[in-house]
Amino acid sequence: MARLGIGLIGAGRIGMLHAQIIDQHPRCTLALVQDVDARLAGALALRHDARAVSSVDDILGDPAVAAVVIASSTDTHADLIAACVAAGKPVLCEKPIDLSLARVQQCHELIRERTAHVQIGFNRRFDDHFVALRKAIRDGEVGRVESVHVITRVPSPPPYRYVRDSGGLFRDMTIHDFDLLRFLLDAEPASVFAQGAALIDPGLAAEGDIDSAMVQLAFADGSAAHITNARRCAYGLDHRVEVFGSEGKLSLQNGLGAPLQRSDRIGTARLPLHHDSPILGYLRSFVNQWDAFVGSLETGRVAGASFEDGWHALALAQAACDSLVARSAIDPAPLRAQDPLAQLAASR
Ligand SMILES: NC(=O)c1ccc[n+]([C@@H]2O[C@H](COP(=O)([O-])OP(=O)(O)OC[C@H]3O[C@@H](n4cnc5c(N)ncnc54)[C@H](O)[C@@H]3O)[C@@H](O)[C@H]2O)c1
Repeated sequence: MARLGIGLIGAGRIGMLHAQIIDQHPRCTLALVQDVDARLAGALALRHDARAVSSVDDILGDPAVAAVVIASSTDTHADLIAACVAAGKPVLCEKPIDLSLARVQQCHELIRERTAHVQIGFNRRFDDHFVALRKAIRDGEVGRVESVHVITRVPSPPPYRYVRDSGGLFRDMTIHDFDLLRFLLDAEPASVFAQGAALIDPGLAAEGDIDSAMVQLAFADGSAAHITNARRCAYGLDHRVEVFGSEGKLSLQNGLGAPLQRSDRIGTARLPLHHDSPILGYLRSFVNQWDAFVGSLETGRVAGASFEDGWHALALAQAACDSLVARSAIDPAPLRAQDPLAQLAASR
């Protein structure tokens, strides 16, 4: 069977990871690579026996390209999604869709009548441990969920130039946790209260950004969730989720299997965590995500996070930004009120 030709836009940190995964997939071949930095595109294409091209139109106009991965900087995503869908190319686009809800809505207007589907790269939905946790919650293993705690602390901040353009901690990093909560609980938070500061790099404060945060979310049924984030963690990637309910508790550490333990004459202790980068720590989920995307090319149905999921997660991130400024809880519903699907659901 002929392999599916894939076009990749963006040859930076995450683009390189996607290229490697595409290259190793039995049903795909990395055909074309484009980046505004031609040097990066050329080097990545060479590494994977692909062809570097100078414009996105070269990818969109090539009938041998069955689908496109968008891994360029966040502020390019909305326009590129619209262009890919208009060209009939299914898309896997990195999170977030954009930094502005208005632009997300505009993009939605442009793509909603089209058939090519869009998947947003919330890779944690494809982490085996989170999938198992979701199933256990749905199977009632903790009974009625009353509270959820999510901790995501990453070993070190991304490069400063990246952070500056990332849209801030809530839109760039916490957005994964917002999506994870929506994925695990199948529920929309009714209020968001955020606190945070630039504790690790005080210079970020001048840019209006923070690197340490706590976010409290409340749901309509009275249950609550709490997210803790830090962009630096001396002992490595620290990712934990605890779901507490009427019948007990489910907990995951790092989503990477059982926590390491050491037993000696003194007793049992946990070993320091590996200094995995968050991306490598979730490598398997990126591979699963790609596999699901390839499957969706056959079914035509989005696997994982849809465009609307990306929209909802961004609305929660925006609510957290607004809450930080207002120093009070924000109802995220009006922020996603323009979502046609939400309006449809509300009218039923
Ligand atoms: N899912 C995840 O866990 C995860 C992890 C890291 C990054 N990301 C997302 O991936 C995206 C890229 O992040 P990164 O860390 O790879 O950043 P990066 O800065 O390393 O790479 C971005 C690349 O995009 C290129 N680029 C910029 N504008 C372009 C355009 N108009 N056309 C083509 N290429 C263009 C840049 O030259 C650069 O090479 C961001 O949106 C980020 O939020 C997701």
